[in-house]
Amino acid sequence: MNNFKNLRGTVDLLPDQLIKWQNVEKIIVEQLLRSSVKEIRTPILEMTELFLRGIGEGTDVVSKEMYTFLDRGDRSCSLRPEGTASVARALIQNGISTKPFQKLWYMGPMFRYERPQAGRQRQFHQLGVEFVGYESFRSDVEIITLAWDILEKLGIKELNLEINTLGDNTDRSNFQKAFLKWLEVNKNSLDLDSQKRIEKNPLRILDTKNVQTKKILEDAPRLVDFLSDKSLKRYLNIKEQLKLLKIPYVENFHLVRGLDYYTHTAFEITSGSLGSQATVCGGGRYDNLISLMGGTETPAIGFAIGLERLIILSGNKLGESRETDIYIVNKGIHAEKLAMDLSRKLRNYDLIAELDLSGASFSKQFKKANKLKSKSIIVIGDDEAFKNQFIIRLFNNDNSENKEETISIEDNIKLEKWVKSNLLLHKNL
Ligand code: HAM
Repeated sequence: MNNFKNLRGTVDLLPDQLIKWQNVEKIIVEQLLRSSVKEIRTPILEMTELFLRGIGEGTDVVSKEMYTFLDRGDRSCSLRPEGTASVARALIQNGISTKPFQKLWYMGPMFRYERPQAGRQRQFHQLGVEFVGYESFRSDVEIITLAWDILEKLGIKELNLEINTLGDNTDRSNFQKAFLKWLEVNKNSLDLDSQKRIEKNPLRILDTKNVQTKKILEDAPRLVDFLSDKSLKRYLNIKEQLKLLKIPYVENFHLVRGLDYYTHTAFEITSGSLGSQATVCGGGRYDNLISLMGGTETPAIGFAIGLERLIILSGNKLGESRETDIYIVNKGIHAEKLAMDLSRKLRNYDLIAELDLSGASFSKQFKKANKLKSKSIIVIGDDEAFKNQFIIRLFNNDNSENKEETISIEDNIKLEKWVKSNLLLHKNL
């Protein structure tokens, strides 16, 4: 007896579900290609130190949610909880200074030990995009637009974009001084979690989910009021450009994001169609990360989209698979040999050609073709095989027979003509 089960918070993706995943991924990759973003793949496993330094020890992701263990050489390793730190490491290691401008994407599993619920898993998948070396406010706009367009391309409804700015180090430290003063006075009115954060990570108090604390925070100082002229100008430019592009946004001065590396722009996109885990995309600028990790000072901005949430949101149409174009019914020693050869030939025409391997009776094979709603079938029995022929039949939508033809196995021209005029009408061959 087998009692094995997958670990809590992980899921098996079965073939029927994966059709939607593959369609969604295809649409995403095409959109990325059109925007000249290139793929990068980094290991799933990294030195723990990378995330401590890159994401920040005080963050929930690092302090509570990482899968960390010692390997057989007593080195502390962690499964990646996100991709930005790894991309930064890979670029530094591979000589960022030789290629200072890079637009990169990655897709793959990430791991966070969180409480699983709909749209939240311990092993989940992200599409991440990072623009490295880009400083101008226009790159912030381009990255936000890219995230928005990907979500729109997938037909996702009720999108809400929230933006904020975290300023540069000086802006933030000026704000923090004023905020800490305010926290001192208001400490006792805050929830316990927020009180604990005062010392460790006061900025994170701003995005508390506690309703009462939220209300009290309405009177707290705002980071936007502590921005230098330069930082403010950058922020205003971004807003203006988003307006020009007709990308609707809401300012949320409490949006600080859960990772420590952010500077200036922070943004999230939620969808009203999702439940409590509504954030489908999160991102922002991280101008200090690469130098903090030992690289040359390099501005950068990026985002990540949670693929599980994207799958929940995208329409059922994307879950439909391509129909079988041709089902090859075959029986008999000679017929089976010819059938295999024929199936390979047909796949070269970009057709979905399924070869029946059962050796069952003709009627059983016909039933299978019927069940698959194959647009056509090829029939080869030994009678046909001896004559070096096969019969090809096309069906109408209601599965009634449309036409039939007998073709010689060597007559590639006739086969190609038949295929093009009957099965590849939608393609420009
Ligand atoms: P993040 O906000 O931590 O950002 O994650 C981005 C997205 O990943 C979330 O909005 C959500 O859709 C998805 N996600 C996060 N945790 C889970 C989970 N446990 N289960 C399912 N989905 C989840 C980052 O990871 C940054 N690296 C984004 C970034 C890239 N910033 C700059 N560049």
